[in-house]
Amino acid sequence: MVGLPARGKTYISQKVCRYLTWLGIKTKVFNVGNYRRQLHGANLPHTFFDPHNTLGEQQRREAAAAALEDMMRWFRDDQGIVAIYDATNSTTARRRWLCEKLGKEDIQVLFIESICQDEELILANIKDVKLSSPDYAKMDPDEAAVDFRARIDHYKEQYETITEQELTYIKLINVGSQNIINQIQGYLESRIVYYLMNLHIAPRKIYFSRHGESQYNLAGKIGGDSNLSERGRLYAVKLPDLIKTNLGDQDLTVWTSTMKRTIETSEKLDYPKLQWKALDELDAGVCDGMTYEEIEQKYPEDFANRDEDKFNYRYRGGESYGDVVLRLEPVIMELERHENILIIGHQAILRCIYAYFMNYSHEDLPYIKIPLHTVIELTPKAYGCEEKRFKGMLSVHQVALS
Ligand code: SIN
Repeated sequence: MVGLPARGKTYISQKVCRYLTWLGIKTKVFNVGNYRRQLHGANLPHTFFDPHNTLGEQQRREAAAAALEDMMRWFRDDQGIVAIYDATNSTTARRRWLCEKLGKEDIQVLFIESICQDEELILANIKDVKLSSPDYAKMDPDEAAVDFRARIDHYKEQYETITEQELTYIKLINVGSQNIINQIQGYLESRIVYYLMNLHIAPRKIYFSRHGESQYNLAGKIGGDSNLSERGRLYAVKLPDLIKTNLGDQDLTVWTSTMKRTIETSEKLDYPKLQWKALDELDAGVCDGMTYEEIEQKYPEDFANRDEDKFNYRYRGGESYGDVVLRLEPVIMELERHENILIIGHQAILRCIYAYFMNYSHEDLPYIKIPLHTVIELTPKAYGCEEKRFKGMLSVHQVALS
């Protein structure tokens, strides 16, 4: 990372880390600020960051070196694929030092520079993230803001935007309004750049709900393309109210799969709608339409394998969770670009999407609980997502009345 403090570097680092991990690429963030706090303590005044403070300068270099050593050890010993070195790296000399060190270990370097001139965004970032950082624990927020601004000024004194033409880099200017890329090569770098070009940090929410109960759900069968059950239809009828009550009058766009149960669930919703083939339920191959008991009897070995490694288990002639993650990538990309999307989806699909936003491991992903008849709201924040759940109240009594 490259950039002044409060330019969203940590947010971007966390997002890229989550995205690559979700795709199955081993990724880790090394935050130099954390090393600085460990080595030299938190609550350091802005003068620590003054480039004319020789001791401060030396201690900051120690923290940078400790993070880099750990990072290189992680590549060597833990077979890491992508490490994100989250620091300001705001001088040509610092970047040269990094390239020399990493070049010796044959590690390719992609610089991501975040440039932001939008004062309002910077202020929001300071308020949202920086003032709650351990650097300012127990400090009066106004005093902390003054100190942090002084810290930024120290960095500005020495800041050199990337001009080194031999470097591989992407410059993100004012969060997506302009991107400059240089010397990007190969699959992984292109993937990361493509992802960054779709990222925006305007406040927004993502909503999703499983389809209402289907006839196959009632019969305990997997897959298929059945209609909703009576209870499921009632959920579809109640959904507009559930949304209005909890989400208010905001504009939404509804995404469904191409399967009947999600389309029927969205029928009463008065918003623009889009059907995605990529949102169709995990393909159960030869097991489509069977109950779990039937699968256990007919394919006992498969049933045991699935229990052993549910993420990688692929149904005969069908898909695994791993396959689904890959086919959902364009959906994630579009979700990053859009605001206020409501997805009416299937259990396995929503597990994969939820895991992306909530940073679940592949091991835990297939066990995430996504209950029926519930709308889930996620609000992306710097270090993850906030979550709320709104339950549709569907008693047997209500079903009988429907
Ligand atoms: C920090 O100490 O918070 C960041 C160090 C840096 O990269 O300048």
